[in-house]
Amino acid sequence: MRILLVASSFNSLTQRVLVELRDRGHTVSVEVTPDGAAVRQAVARHAPDLVVAPMLKAVVPRDVWTAHRCLIVHPGPVGDRGPTSLDHAIHDGVDEWGVTVLQADEEMDAGDVWASVAFRVPEVGKSDLYRNELSDAAVTAVLLAVERVAAGATPTPQTGEIRARPALRQEARRISWEEDTTETVLRTLRAADSQPGVRDRLLGAEWFLHGGHAEDGLLGRPGALLATRAGAVCRATVDGAVWIPELRARTGPGRPRACKLPATMALAGRLPELPELPAPADPAPGFRTWSDIRYREEGPVGVLSFAFPGGAMSTDQCRRLLDAYETARTRPTSVLVVGGQRDFFSNGIHLNVIEAAADPAAESWANINAMNDLVEAVLTTTDRLVVSAIGGNAAAGGVMLALAADEVWCRSGSVLNPHYRRMGLYGSEYWTRTLPGKVGGALAARLTEEARPVSAAASLDMGLVDRVVDCGPGEFAAEITRLALRLASRDGIQPRVAAKKAEHERREAVSPLAAHRERELSRMRRIFDDPAASYHALRRSFVRKEDPPALSPDGPGAGAGGSADC
Ligand code: COA
Repeated sequence: MRILLVASSFNSLTQRVLVELRDRGHTVSVEVTPDGAAVRQAVARHAPDLVVAPMLKAVVPRDVWTAHRCLIVHPGPVGDRGPTSLDHAIHDGVDEWGVTVLQADEEMDAGDVWASVAFRVPEVGKSDLYRNELSDAAVTAVLLAVERVAAGATPTPQTGEIRARPALRQEARRISWEEDTTETVLRTLRAADSQPGVRDRLLGAEWFLHGGHAEDGLLGRPGALLATRAGAVCRATVDGAVWIPELRARTGPGRPRACKLPATMALAGRLPELPELPAPADPAPGFRTWSDIRYREEGPVGVLSFAFPGGAMSTDQCRRLLDAYETARTRPTSVLVVGGQRDFFSNGIHLNVIEAAADPAAESWANINAMNDLVEAVLTTTDRLVVSAIGGNAAAGGVMLALAADEVWCRSGSVLNPHYRRMGLYGSEYWTRTLPGKVGGALAARLTEEARPVSAAASLDMGLVDRVVDCGPGEFAAEITRLALRLASRDGIQPRVAAKKAEHERREAVSPLAAHRERELSRMRRIFDDPAASYHALRRSFVRKEDPPALSPDGPGAGAGGSADC
């Protein structure tokens, strides 16, 4: 079928629906449509057999849905209506939620039902839920709906209870630190993560709080800050405490949006003296705390997992992860898994921290070097097998970090963006060695030039990844450990490690890693040091959530906010 996707942004769900439909042989185009008029123009231009809106804030005009079949993905079960469904679901603490594919109609979310799929709601933030359980369910529902449309079926009218709810506003999201328990605070924070955050006062200023994780080991005066860890602050509730990893300053009307930053960085100059608590090495089962980097071992397998908000890795985060990697390398394991947690693997350098730096060019340089040091450590590990385990999505330098390992495994729902072009960057992280090594030179050039998302299945077909793990987001960590243990128990592992060492030495003699690094970094340095380079404008608009700058049709940001034929 010729399918047109219309979306308010080319976000994770739109990308996932695009790649899944494309994998099934449909001809799919995407148009980012800010309003109903743009939807009308896009439909007129493409004349599709079917219009699908995976994430559309605009209303589809009547003349469009009467002339074309338009399917709307609503992030709620049948009968649920309103603009912040997922926020309400998490705020209310539901265990199960759903996603429904509706036919566009006069009233928002009121159309006939083409498909509806339920999913379990784990205790995670809204954006994690959206990119994972909801995304899996939405794809199942869209594929079912498309099949039903192709088969000439008709949708069913909505029956049962109708629950229309207004947007969840900041007044309803307010945290009362003197009264709310840890569980209430966590639900409030998760329902607002990663957008819009929870508006609050802290240390004499107004902020949006982003992210929230339970801490069972600390108590204090409700609302007081108790400790810091890895850029996050720990704040007391009436019966415990929560870790808040990121803050965004509230700016007045007409002022540019502030960057969302690691909390201690946002609070620099205001923070009182607080203990910086190391993560407990071996927390008792059931003990809740938070750390962005963790290491655990099961027999011959070490698992170094990390979870950075938005998948962004700042200079500090890269250096801490490198330290943890070097420590993991001293352990007597034969397989070292890097990653393995749910949600984002990595999206490369931390554009927000760079944007907020006094000298963004210098911070970009420090960040890319720290990222390269980490990737180099993986590439030069010759005494054991390293597996990258991508539980969610990955992009740009984050994909290249994964490719540094001997084997790359990803979850069946992952979407990879192995390119840098949309941020106006040449790229680094030794991609000129690893990407052609995985997929061949011609395909590497296409992937980086065309800058399109790739599904897990297509990644496997083209050799970008070595294994697709077909499981739910919540089962990924356990499944990866099981598979890594099986790999470690194979007879051939020691000869394989020896062969890898020999191959590494052979390649170093022919095309040393240092030469790749130097070539890539010299291109990056030129971009960083050129204030007119598109990278600076693209970064700013990405971080501040402004419209992307107008660039030439073939320019680096092309396709990011317009249309893409796939
Ligand atoms: N630096 C800082 N923040 C980043 C980031 C990065 N490299 N990559 C993603 N994020 C943040 C986003 O700003 C967003 O923040 P929000 O929750 O406050 O809105 C969050 O992570 C999720 O990203 P979003 O863009 O909403 O997710 P998506 O799944 O729709 O799109 C990407 C994923 C990776 C395609 C998109 O985030 C992207 O292009 N990131 C930049 C990749 C890049 O160019 N890295 C630098 C070169 S190495």
